[in-house]
Amino acid sequence: MQIIGVGKLGEAIVSGLLKADPFAELTLVAKSSQQAERLVEGFPGESYLNASVSTEPTADPQVIIAVKPHHVFDVAEQLTHSCEVVSVAAGISIEAMESKLPSGSKAVRAMPNLAVGVNQGMTGIAAAQNSHIPVWVSESFSKLGAVVEVDENQLGIVTGIAGSGPGFLYRIVEAFAKAGESLGLTSEQSQLLAEQTFIGAGLGLQASDVSAAELRGRVTTPNGTTHAGLQELENAQIDDLIGKVVQAARERGLEIGKGDS
Ligand SMILES: NC(=O)c1ccc[n+]([C@@H]2O[C@H](COP(=O)([O-])OP(=O)(O)OC[C@H]3O[C@@H](n4cnc5c(N)ncnc54)[C@H](OP(=O)(O)O)[C@@H]3O)[C@@H](O)[C@H]2O)c1
Repeated sequence: MQIIGVGKLGEAIVSGLLKADPFAELTLVAKSSQQAERLVEGFPGESYLNASVSTEPTADPQVIIAVKPHHVFDVAEQLTHSCEVVSVAAGISIEAMESKLPSGSKAVRAMPNLAVGVNQGMTGIAAAQNSHIPVWVSESFSKLGAVVEVDENQLGIVTGIAGSGPGFLYRIVEAFAKAGESLGLTSEQSQLLAEQTFIGAGLGLQASDVSAAELRGRVTTPNGTTHAGLQELENAQIDDLIGKVVQAARERGLEIGKGDS
């Protein structure tokens, strides 16, 4: 498999794939070989015998494209052999990509988030209508976390929730830390409290077989402290607010796809 583009997301994908299988046969296609070599050398632990680096796409028919949307067509046109491509670029349609690929090639799209780097990613994958997702694509992203198959026109929703979601959640953690500080804790204390609470709540959710709503109910005593705080979230119309957040990210993804950088 070749991964073209080893920036923030490409690096996270490579990192997750190598954590899942240190002997995975990967070629990292970067703009400079120094960048790709640094990346392979930078992985902790053993040497990754089957990870190689290149500055040009290779003939490997399994291709992950992880460059910025405005570079996707350049990369597609650099490919010389019929291949199966999965692009993670926001907003670039399967049809547009296939029109630039060598004949006989097929494209699908994936929208992962950066948690793929620690094998806890959330990825939405879409194939064109009447087409299917290649097994190697589903298997690769399943090694990087959870996968959901959606229609191509629903990928914007995946972007709004999962692709951009870590950024939204980090902002919420930041707000909790700021609240602690403004109430008198040191920045170090309130950051630890906010971050560890977030991590613990996430792991608790992962370990349980019930929904977040159910877990919330379990930690909320009527007229207790959590109840009092939740009341403020309801007063601030949290569902509407988060709805707008997801919608804004979704719309921005559509604009980027139309070439608005
Ligand atoms: N970051 C996320 O959380 C996230 C989540 C979901 C989807 N995505 C999608 O993932 C894609 C990459 O995002 P990113 O945040 O990882 O961007 P990024 O950090 O800018 O990484 C893109 C990398 O691709 C390199 N590149 C550009 N043209 C290339 C070429 N022809 N051959 C090889 N490498 C090339 C860039 O090098 P230069 O910098 O030298 O140009 C850069 O290292 C985007 O399309 C984005 O929509 C990102």
